[in-house]
Amino acid sequence: MKQTENQILIIFGASGDLTKRKLIPALYSLFVQNLLPEKFAVLGASRSPLTDNQFRKRVEEFLPKEKQVAEFKKLLFYQPVETNRIVDFIPLKKRLKQLSTDLQIEKNYIFYLSTPPSLYEVIPRLLSKNKLSKSSKHFRRLIVEKPFGTNLASAKELNTKLLNYFDEEQIYRIDHYLGKETVQNMLVTRFSNGIFEPLWNRNYIERVEITSAESLGVEGRGGYYDHSGALRDMLQNHLLQLVGFVAMEPPTVIDATSIRNETIKVFQSLRPIPENRIVDHVIRGQYTSSKIKNKNVAGYREEPGVDPKSRTETFIALKFYIDNWRWADVPFYIRTGKKLPTRVTEIVIHFKSVPHHLFDSGNNQASTNNQLIIRIQPDEGILLKFGMKTPGAGFDVQTVNMDFHYSDLTNTTVPAAYERLLLDCMQGDATLYARGDGVEEAWKFVQPIINAWENNPEMPIYGYPAGTWGPEESFELIPNAEWRFPCKNLTDDGLYCEL
Ligand code: BG6
Repeated sequence: MKQTENQILIIFGASGDLTKRKLIPALYSLFVQNLLPEKFAVLGASRSPLTDNQFRKRVEEFLPKEKQVAEFKKLLFYQPVETNRIVDFIPLKKRLKQLSTDLQIEKNYIFYLSTPPSLYEVIPRLLSKNKLSKSSKHFRRLIVEKPFGTNLASAKELNTKLLNYFDEEQIYRIDHYLGKETVQNMLVTRFSNGIFEPLWNRNYIERVEITSAESLGVEGRGGYYDHSGALRDMLQNHLLQLVGFVAMEPPTVIDATSIRNETIKVFQSLRPIPENRIVDHVIRGQYTSSKIKNKNVAGYREEPGVDPKSRTETFIALKFYIDNWRWADVPFYIRTGKKLPTRVTEIVIHFKSVPHHLFDSGNNQASTNNQLIIRIQPDEGILLKFGMKTPGAGFDVQTVNMDFHYSDLTNTTVPAAYERLLLDCMQGDATLYARGDGVEEAWKFVQPIINAWENNPEMPIYGYPAGTWGPEESFELIPNAEWRFPCKNLTDDGLYCEL
């Protein structure tokens, strides 16, 4: 285990939801596992005029009722800051100095931007003006939450601005999907086993499918979501990062430079979809009101904060290609959406069928392609589907499962994504964070879709009743085949699964 230097984590936007729901619980879990530095403090900073104690009280509701919580809370401090006022950074700096002295913590600082994106440039600028941004004897790091820009131009602009105040090595662009244990395991599955990688290419793989479904709707975030939509909220970041891990070449070593170089090569090889072909490759949808388990469910346009005439997509399905040696002509299909039948994220590798169908007879499933399913969440695991002889007369073939579930590992807890990512940043490891050029490449790929939708507002957006697998048009994206219909349990499929 790497040594973690003593440090202070400053969270801007500390009175917000992310801090309470994700960051503080992740820090608590690190504390319980003894993974925090020997000397460590969290300084919450935001507009609300809270005292240290009031801040501690606020975050309590998201912590378990355990004895250690009292000890953990002693690490939490709070400083009110009007984050766009330079004068407020003077007391902030003084407070940091004071904490360092009182708690004997070296002046190593991580600044976490958990604020509205409009402050992503302002805070680093004010930190720099107050001489808080340069690493020298002590390190200074900056974590930037998503969304990183709203299109290619704004992402580039943000990168340029941040680089005025922090060096690239100091900037940690968070994508919490990379913090998921199962996503990292994809690298281990591919590169630590002799049996998968030789098949992992255009010669043996027929298509790759990625589904990231959510059963929840916009849950009170209508105001944000209506300006974002599934393309910006999920596909440009989380799902393209998954594509990066599925499709990358073996890195030379596991470190930030090698891994990120390889994923960026994948993004650079994504075949651009011309604006006038978007309708053939991209299906967008929006959930409409329906009845789920006898309960009326509101449609997207009826959600608070959403424009009643909104044309924002709550579902997107996309077909694309990766133009390189390994993946030439292998179609990739991605879909993601809100208010789908269940919460599931998985990658399905569809292998090509055998060249000669020896056992094809009548209606048996002899020509069913092998599938490898990498389940990111829930029921995390891996499932391999293959053909087996049905016992008895003749040579009938049936598809059977070979499956591994993380839940079978005893005494192992799968760490939450934020836990892993926070610890990595504390240790100066950016492997699981996005690099500026990677984020730009990902935007470059989705930009023609944004343009096509903006320039052609009449382009179809299909309704789908809440609780279904998205618009039927998305089924037609895959010729002569179907999406896998996953269920909560990894091994159940093929059913129009339970809600
Ligand atoms: C966030 C999106 O980045 O990811 C949310 O803004 C989405 O809209 C969430 O619900 C999904 O994350 P997870 O970890 O629940 O799959």
